Amino acid sequence: MSASEVSTRLRRALAGTTERLGRAGVPSPSVDARALITHAARTERPLVLLDELPVDFAEDLEQLTRRRESREPLQLILGRAPFRRLMLAVRPGVFIPRPETELAVDLLREHAAGPVSSIVDLCAGSGALGAAVLDEMPGTRVLAVEVDPGAAALAAENLEHAGPGRGRVLRADLTAGAQELPELAAAGPVDAVLSNPPYIPPEAIPREAEVREHDPERALFGGGADGLEVPRAVLAWSRRLLRPGGVLVMEHADVQGEAARTAAVACGGFDHLLTVRDLTGRDRFLVARRGDGDPSPGSETLTR
Ligand SMILES: C[S@@+](CC[C@H](N)C(=O)[O-])C[C@H]1O[C@@H](n2cnc3c(N)ncnc32)[C@H](O)[C@@H]1O
Repeated sequence: MSASEVSTRLRRALAGTTERLGRAGVPSPSVDARALITHAARTERPLVLLDELPVDFAEDLEQLTRRRESREPLQLILGRAPFRRLMLAVRPGVFIPRPETELAVDLLREHAAGPVSSIVDLCAGSGALGAAVLDEMPGTRVLAVEVDPGAAALAAENLEHAGPGRGRVLRADLTAGAQELPELAAAGPVDAVLSNPPYIPPEAIPREAEVREHDPERALFGGGADGLEVPRAVLAWSRRLLRPGGVLVMEHADVQGEAARTAAVACGGFDHLLTVRDLTGRDRFLVARRGDGDPSPGSETLTR
């Protein structure tokens, strides 16, 4: 096949796949079409530079397109998801890391007091946050805690890839107390805790089919009437694990800024609380600093 025939086939494939994905309601049809075509072409090179295609290109692309038309997430089809500088392995049954969570690593750098060498990632999922820290903060060590066995195994792979020998995964249910989790209780004091826990309240059903049908329920719904049962467990464990001056960065839903601060006050042990908003002005992260004792925390809200 000549280079110009390859280019014609690719152009037709891009137009046809984009059209099909658009009709199926995929939010970014041309971006996804390009990714599927690149995958079917088994290349990392830009499509315009290709001068040949695998013999089974058309069959592969058809299969990939059908999967995406059925609203299977692009990341699961490709088997990987970008997160900060990393390309993480992802797998069915494990929460797909989201771009909005990436900000947690910047907040850690910004708000950490003193050197940061030991970090715990609570509710680690694929290990996205811990892996990013290992990748970007040389010399740090990460303990990732996750209840789901499939996610824990995936986190171990992603941590090892990002920082060989510096990450460890503990399979544990954080709603259990310190007596039931002696290994976690013994992991402190640490410099920082990062967490993107499940936090959706029970009545809030996600709108996108990709989320509703593919992210595991345990990764989405935080438990209790307000969805904050697991986040409250994250606060309690952070209070226990952090050294004085250590910092917790925890993601939450845009409607939970005040509730997260209130939960941190009720938990006790933090001397400064901050709600960080995203670019659209929505509350998205709690930053909490571990105090020496149990003073009433000061609090503020920051807009980025
Ligand atoms: C929203 S996902 C986030 C995963 C990852 N931190 C990320 O940002 O991509 C929440 C994760 O918490 C885990 N999880 C839920 N309840 C838990 C619990 N009680 N103890 C430990 N992990 C829990 C879920 O299995 C899921 O992997």
